[in-house]
Amino acid sequence: MSAAIAPLAVPARFARPDFVWGVATASFQIEGSTRADGRLTSIWDTFSATPGKVLHGDTGEPGCDHYRRWESDVELIAALGVDAYRLSIAWPRVLREDGSLNPAGIGFYQRLLDRLGERGVQRYVTLYHWDLPQHLQDRGGWLNRETAYRFADYADRMARALHGRVSAWMTLNEPWCSAFLGHGNGHHAPGLAEPRFATQAMHHLLLGHGLALPALRAADPGAACGIVANVGRGTTDGASDADRDAAHLYEVMHNAWVLDPLFAGRYPADLQRLWPGSEPLVLDGDMAVITRPVDFLGINYYFRSNLRSNGAGRFVDVPLPGVERTQMGWEVYPQGLEDLLRGFKAAYPNLPPVFITENGMASDDRVADGRVDDAQRISYLERHFAAVARAADAGVDVRGYFVWSLMDNFEWAFGYERRFGLVHVDYATQQRTLKNSARAFQAFLAARSR
Ligand code: FCB
Repeated sequence: MSAAIAPLAVPARFARPDFVWGVATASFQIEGSTRADGRLTSIWDTFSATPGKVLHGDTGEPGCDHYRRWESDVELIAALGVDAYRLSIAWPRVLREDGSLNPAGIGFYQRLLDRLGERGVQRYVTLYHWDLPQHLQDRGGWLNRETAYRFADYADRMARALHGRVSAWMTLNEPWCSAFLGHGNGHHAPGLAEPRFATQAMHHLLLGHGLALPALRAADPGAACGIVANVGRGTTDGASDADRDAAHLYEVMHNAWVLDPLFAGRYPADLQRLWPGSEPLVLDGDMAVITRPVDFLGINYYFRSNLRSNGAGRFVDVPLPGVERTQMGWEVYPQGLEDLLRGFKAAYPNLPPVFITENGMASDDRVADGRVDDAQRISYLERHFAAVARAADAGVDVRGYFVWSLMDNFEWAFGYERRFGLVHVDYATQQRTLKNSARAFQAFLAARSR
């Protein structure tokens, strides 16, 4: 007999029936089967196969073998009792190089979404969670304006093939990561490291987002459409104006670089203080495309950074000593999420309703006697729920919350070592084990009034 677990503590306003609770994953992180059924190579296959790019040389194989285990994974999701599941579609699975549909690839997502629907789970679908087809990268990837148009074509095809099966579409996941980690510092695929590449990639990503919206709305009018941004809180323990400016610049670089073009129709001027001469090429009419209204904004939040001036107009990250951290080394700072949400509402009068589309933490979780004691994750989640509820009390329109992640998976440059799941995965056997956090989430979901 396993001891009962206390339900996650959730603020009353988020225990109402119309608030959407979910778990999230992404295609490359869980699917495995990277060569099955005509799937093309993605930039993450190439990058992870390059020595030195991913910790321990990990790749998209085996992932969580979800491509083959999807039926039991759907039962797992349903058993948690969540309202919604956020997943992403692998572009290289569903389209051939000539842009035509790959029936085997699209069939996988049709079956998956149908089964989720049969189990009463709403489907939040991200179109681009970083697995760009390699053949597009070979033509310049996001540095090539043509990729934005190819993305809109892909969105159109998906909306036609999957219409009626999707509750909400998310165009891009975290364009900041694609632009900066992929093109500014090279930590992510495709591994380029040049600020002006990052700003140009960002522009083409956001252009692709804007171009995709009318296609999604036309082919799947019943679904909501939005975009997902990762946001970071930057503060300083320094006392000088230069230190305060460093923290400001950090937030410009992490938040305003994405949110200003979407909700204010311009790139932040302060970005040029960080990267002089890095203005992207913007054609007439582009900003009107990028500011097309969305139904919601997805926010992904993980941590706060402490910044100081480097004395030359830039910021340096100076980790605070003695603060609580996760397996990633990220500081646990729920207040940052409240601060950011309130700040966005103040900065953008047209801010749409918000979903927390990712929040969670990595820990070095082990199974002992069939259990995983991840008390820090339970506490992390409860404190972040409370912070978001304070932002909601202050008037931010928050509609739902997705925990990252359903299960342990391929954590990009950190491979399989970093465990973000509510569910533990043993990669050798693909055994799934509910961590205590999953059981506490399940207990909350079961107890809430519907
Ligand atoms: C986000 C990504 C997600 C996951 C978490 C930990 O940046 O969107 O795929 O890796 O971080």
